[in-house]
Amino acid sequence: MTLETTEGAEVTSTFTNPPATPGRTAEPPAVVATEVSKVYGSGDAAVHALRGVSVGFARGAFTAIMGPSGSGKSTLMHCLAGLDTVSGGQVMLGDAELTAMNDKQLTLLRRDRIGFIFQAFNLLPTLTAEQNILLPLELSGRRLDRAWFDQVIDVVGLRERLGHRPNELSGGQQQRVACARALVSRPEVIFADEPTGNLDSRSGAEVLGFLRASVREMGRTIVMVTHDPVAASYADRVVFLRDGQIVTELYQPTPDTVLDRLKSLGA
Ligand SMILES: Nc1ncnc2c1ncn2[C@@H]1O[C@H](COP(=O)(O)OP(=O)(O)OP(=O)(O)O)[C@@H](O)[C@H]1O
Ligand SMILES: [Mg+2]
Repeated sequence: MTLETTEGAEVTSTFTNPPATPGRTAEPPAVVATEVSKVYGSGDAAVHALRGVSVGFARGAFTAIMGPSGSGKSTLMHCLAGLDTVSGGQVMLGDAELTAMNDKQLTLLRRDRIGFIFQAFNLLPTLTAEQNILLPLELSGRRLDRAWFDQVIDVVGLRERLGHRPNELSGGQQQRVACARALVSRPEVIFADEPTGNLDSRSGAEVLGFLRASVREMGRTIVMVTHDPVAASYADRVVFLRDGQIVTELYQPTPDTVLDRLKSLGA
């Protein structure tokens, strides 16, 4: 297996570890999918949304998932996050096998170990920004680490807005509240599905810059589905899906290298 870390280098084999970075010990990935398949429907109507996907997501890295419409991006994210069941294969979050869990175990695992950021910010309108951010911690009955909360609030730049309700905030600010909410309980991994899909390019850039900072400066692990080559270029790595399979990937992506790769996939 040859791995290259130069800009735009292609890695053709499927693997579960990031390229070795000097000074970093090789840690097991945060999330690993092994030969995951997903079939919707049956018989003639069966749709093979995932066909044997094997991929690992490194701890402390920002990974984007791209591919043409219908290639299986959302399905993969839902299977990785325990939001949907697989038809075959295995998904591990750390040492926990999601694919062996029942609904109740998955609900607890999502609540306690995974953060979510969706395209529609999904904030509760009657709660202030601060109350929205603290809600997951309250629901799981965990104690607030005030120093961590302060760090998160400063990184997202929401200090002056904590007492405002969502309808008093811009779209970008609302999505930053959603990001802070996903971060504050320190989940092992944050899954983001088109987090900038509803934002103008400037607000999108703010949110993406913040997601990248949370990985680089706060050691978080993020997996983001996106259609946008510029959004993907904020990630450390991009994996490309086509017809339910991972077909290629890029490290240190730029908007141009991502666009070229998408074109070669016929997207
Ligand atoms: N609940 C479902 N029932 C039947 N087929 C489904 C279901 N969800 C997804 N599919 C099919 O599975 C395939 C993969 O869908 P998926 O939503 O994962 O694609 P995607 O890459 O996220 O696309 P997009 O970029 O349009 O969001 C598609 O052919 C889709 O029609
Ligand atoms: Mg989708």
